[in-house]
Amino acid sequence: MSDRELRVSKIRNGTVIDHVTGGQALNVLSILGIDGSEGLGVSVVMNVPSDRLGRKDVVKVEDRELSQSEVDVISLIAPEASINIIRDFEVVQKNRVDRPESVVGLLSCPNRNCITNESEPVETDFTVVDEGVRCTYCGTIIRDSLADHIDPE
Ligand code: CTP
Ligand code: ZN
Repeated sequence: MSDRELRVSKIRNGTVIDHVTGGQALNVLSILGIDGSEGLGVSVVMNVPSDRLGRKDVVKVEDRELSQSEVDVISLIAPEASINIIRDFEVVQKNRVDRPESVVGLLSCPNRNCITNESEPVETDFTVVDEGVRCTYCGTIIRDSLADHIDPE
């Protein structure tokens, strides 16, 4: 990319989530539990041209790495995403996301009576199915807006 085209700065340390499906950047931030109040440096680019995707979003989060469950949920809303770990301005690791078989933790079950919502906490476990994700404990399916079902802990 030439200087004329550069939209946001490179970052020194952190994670760049690139090739995000156009329009999904804010959902990626929800999955990461980032709303700006935590004070992390965050850059978001939406709907920029991409050779591979037509248009894409990019999310750069400084001084933060992602957990496996965060990557798993991101892969469900942005199947072409790549996760770049940046250290001292260099890309030290680049991974394409994989569609997971299940997502452990992070999501919360919408069924109030589900054992995962009892006072004794049981970690959630969702199986990835064609229609969305299915709670392994009670069978409830979350079909869309996964980002609205993130457990704030
Ligand atoms: N990036 C960044 N800060 C850095 C290094 C890289 O913000 N210090 C960003 C780049 O802007 C790009 C992504 O991280 O969005 C991946 O960087 P790089 O691998 O250098 O770019 P490409 O080769 O274009 O990546 P790909 O082949 O995955 O498209
Ligand atoms: Zn459940």
